[in-house]
Amino acid sequence: MKTSELFQQDGVPLSEFEHDREQTLAEVLEGLRREQKHLPPKLLYDERGSQLFEAITSAPDYYLTRTELQIMRSAAGAMAARIGPHRVIIEPGSGSSEKTRILLDHLESPRAYVPVEISPTALHAAAESLNQAYPDLDVFPVCADFHETIDLPEIEGAEHGPVFYFPGSTIGNFFREEQVAFLKRVRRLVGDDGGLLIGVDLVKDPRILERAYNDRDQANETFAFNLLERLNREFDADIDPDQFCYYVFFNPQHRRIEMHLVSLVAQEYRIEDETISFRVGESILTEYSHKFTQREFEGLARKCGFAVREVWRDARGWFSVQYLTAI
Ligand SMILES: C[S@@+](CC[C@H](N)C(=O)[O-])C[C@H]1O[C@@H](n2cnc3c(N)ncnc32)[C@H](O)[C@@H]1O
Repeated sequence: MKTSELFQQDGVPLSEFEHDREQTLAEVLEGLRREQKHLPPKLLYDERGSQLFEAITSAPDYYLTRTELQIMRSAAGAMAARIGPHRVIIEPGSGSSEKTRILLDHLESPRAYVPVEISPTALHAAAESLNQAYPDLDVFPVCADFHETIDLPEIEGAEHGPVFYFPGSTIGNFFREEQVAFLKRVRRLVGDDGGLLIGVDLVKDPRILERAYNDRDQANETFAFNLLERLNREFDADIDPDQFCYYVFFNPQHRRIEMHLVSLVAQEYRIEDETISFRVGESILTEYSHKFTQREFEGLARKCGFAVREVWRDARGWFSVQYLTAI
């Protein structure tokens, strides 16, 4: 039977699944009370945020998506050979599933594809379009937060552990402790004979990095400002975005791009019943994007029970896609 119905989360059909507003509000307020104000990155991806992210991926200065797509196009055959036939492919943070198609085109009889996304609109659109493009493939979309325990569907007939596909160097957006927790969780889920195919952005000239996240078309900036607009729209906040500027820099000590919205003046805003004050120059951290050396990534993998078995890079050595299995 072709299973194209949307998978249910806690018995709630996906179309009715909405992220818990109260829980998200609590996370927002907790983040804004910290010394370094911070908003949960998942807030970046509402319907508009997902569209804005797609605009970033085609910005000329944003080398990541283009470079990873090149690697996928040139090495997907070798990746598929590593992965083997009849595998269940699980993709956390699947977005438009664009890179996945290249992989699916090369895999031998994949058993099923499970995209896991926080944005129901992006998930729904990708699942529909995959169902049309791959009528023989079982697609089980799951709308969930990949930092939490995910109820994955039971899939009959899978002979080996699943393979997680985690492109986009999304691992770099996590805090260091989240990277470890996430990879350990994936390691448990794939078992001893599953795998992880992961996109990892590499340390490089900081000017190239800063340009990618502060692009000339201001795609990144618009994406970050959507956070403030979302607080206004969904949490009755009254923030004036003109009183903030987008500020990006590479932090060499931590090997990461940091994206901030910096308050240009001393100001106060209300979010629901709480008053949030900003000093002039104080910022909200919107996102990190950690970059890795190969050695550092292999150390992280080992700490989480994985060994790196193969690495594919572009000619400039800017980006990598790596295949990991249990140590
Ligand atoms: C950097 S994008 C990568 C998209 C796609 N995998 C790619 O490589 O182009 C991150 C994706 O993860 C999703 N996402 C962000 N936070 C999430 C969370 N906490 N749980 C599930 N998905 C999340 C976003 O909606 C977005 O589609």
